[in-house]
Amino acid sequence: MNLLAFTGSPRKESISSKLQNEFLNPFILNGFKVDIINAYQTKINPCMGCGYCASKLQCNLNDEMSDIYRLIKEADIISVSSPLYFSHFPAPLKTIIDRCQLLWEEKKKNITMKRKRGFFFPLPDQTMGIFFAVFLQALNIFLIL
Ligand SMILES: Cc1cc2nc3c(=O)[nH]c(=O)nc-3n(C[C@H](O)[C@H](O)[C@H](O)COP(=O)(O)O)c2cc1C
Repeated sequence: MNLLAFTGSPRKESISSKLQNEFLNPFILNGFKVDIINAYQTKINPCMGCGYCASKLQCNLNDEMSDIYRLIKEADIISVSSPLYFSHFPAPLKTIIDRCQLLWEEKKKNITMKRKRGFFFPLPDQTMGIFFAVFLQALNIFLIL
């Protein structure tokens, strides 16, 4: 079984990463293949909205996202752990999410992936109301994956 974990914090001692690690430990101990992607350590270009993926079912940009597409497709479980920056995902994580437009285009053409379970750990400083925007974004992305 494969678990793919995204972390969205730039901070070394980040609370969201600690939370994520607590979640991952039992899976690691039980022999899952666990891949962790720290969005701030990736070199991923932003989606240019060129529409290439809609017509060719491939991304026109050639970067580390190719590996991430493969890991997403292989995953049985995807978890996302992130602080909130102005009620949204920090920019590098949002960049990865935007590049998932290719997966949306594939889904529209009935190219489906294996079913997955998704876990989301948002880490705000403040009240639940502020969560709302990021919950909607997370829901959108999990509906695609
Ligand atoms: C640029 C920036 C924007 C932030 N915006 C929000 C916000 O909109 N809502 C919120 O609750 N916390 C906000 N925070 C606080 C972080 O979400 C909070 O400190 C979080 O616990 C950090 O998580 P980490 O330890 O995993 O990095 C912001 C922090 C920064 C640096």
